[in-house]
Amino acid sequence: MKIDDVRYIFSLGAGTMGQQIALQCAMHGYDVIVYDLSSDVLRDAAAARSPEAVAAADKFKDEYIDKGLLGVKAGKGFYTYPNPAYERPGFLTGKA
Ligand SMILES: NC(=O)c1ccc[n+]([C@@H]2O[C@H](COP(=O)([O-])OP(=O)(O)OC[C@H]3O[C@@H](n4cnc5c(N)ncnc54)[C@H](O)[C@@H]3O)[C@@H](O)[C@H]2O)c1
Repeated sequence: MKIDDVRYIFSLGAGTMGQQIALQCAMHGYDVIVYDLSSDVLRDAAAARSPEAVAAADKFKDEYIDKGLLGVKAGKGFYTYPNPAYERPGFLTGKA
């Protein structure tokens, strides 16, 4: 599987990391689902969607995604780094 095949992101956990990873993926054009065992955490994550945060995300989408500077459709973004570590056979096992 190649990174270009990825279209949907599922974040298992909506804490500090999960929320930020989900936000970054969504801002780069992926459809994102966030799940957590804790309904309190999910409620807090939803509450973090303040009008200011939504406005910032909309502005980012308008200025970068929609103009083709970043995102899945543009093919530009963090997943276009040359020789990413995750493509090496031993990335998950630590064996080169
Ligand atoms: N916060 C950091 O700076 C940082 C940096 C590097 C790595 N990490 C690692 O990332 C992971 C998450 O860290 P965090 O800071 O976001 O923690 P966090 O406590 O803020 O969030 C973790 C969330 O995962 C949920 N969770 C736990 N088990 C689950 C399950 N089986 N299904 C669904 N949800 C589940 C918890 O309810 C919690 O809300 C940890 O393994 C941590 O060591 C964190």
